[in-house]
Amino acid sequence: MNDTLYFNGRWMTTADRVLGVEDRGFQFGDAVYEVFKFARKRPIFILDHFRRMQRGLDAIEIRSPWNESSFVRTAEELLERTAFEEGIVYVQVSRGESERAHFYPDDMKPTAVAYSRKFRFPDEAKKERGIRLITAPDQRWKQCQVKSVNLLANVIAKKRAQRAAADEALLVGDGLVREGASSSIFVAHPLDEHILPGVVRDRVIGLALASKIRVDERPIRETELLDLDEAFITSTTMGVMPVAEIDGRVIGNSRRGEITTRLQRLFDDLERSESSERPATLRGEDSVQRSR
Ligand code: PDD
Repeated sequence: MNDTLYFNGRWMTTADRVLGVEDRGFQFGDAVYEVFKFARKRPIFILDHFRRMQRGLDAIEIRSPWNESSFVRTAEELLERTAFEEGIVYVQVSRGESERAHFYPDDMKPTAVAYSRKFRFPDEAKKERGIRLITAPDQRWKQCQVKSVNLLANVIAKKRAQRAAADEALLVGDGLVREGASSSIFVAHPLDEHILPGVVRDRVIGLALASKIRVDERPIRETELLDLDEAFITSTTMGVMPVAEIDGRVIGNSRRGEITTRLQRLFDDLERSESSERPATLRGEDSVQRSR
């Protein structure tokens, strides 16, 4: 079974080979992307994802093919056309297609793509056991707040993790722990150009503050990793995931930490409630964002 694909306003499947070979996303990595989760055919935190994508497009001066409500409509239609209830949606907006040259014309028409995919989210056993991390040098560009498709440094770090029988690589720059190759880490790095502003990171900080759990947003030194009582990573695909080991050394007392357990439950509940509601734009609200 092929998955449903949205391509520049048309509906097709991922088996259709539609992308032009001179699309700038393909040739230059001149594009941004998003990954959001859906459950019971409902998109989760969709406006958070849309707003982050919009900020990324603005930062690199690509015209957005959607506004909030047309994006939500596209996502809803995509999920209606999708044969399964739960999975992820990958969205990419590139600068568009033109004769290959580093210089690009001013009036480019962006390429907009979105498709759904089945995904095996971590089960309860994994969520309790946690994951293994390695540390790896952060070799990314200097605007990591933009969710650009230039993922070469992330992919290389991730492969290193896999070869070391680990699940994720913690990227370290200037001796400071920035984030995972595809996840945020807690202790939370402050929001700046060194990290992606994770949607789950933001929601988890909101939940922690609402539950009177103290949140420090500061970069930690690689050397401090050994002293942590507990740690977890967050991402759309992993939710709140305990860290069991870093570079082969056990974190805390090798069991899922108390704060991690609480936040994992709170986050799972929030996600569940989000998948049973209609998106905010369709309820006539202009914002579902937590005010901090
Ligand atoms: N990755 N940091 C990086 C570098 C990421 O690639 C991701 C997500 C995150 C977590 O962000 P969020 O909570 O919004 O998922 C942090 C996605 C899932 C991916 O590339 O597949």
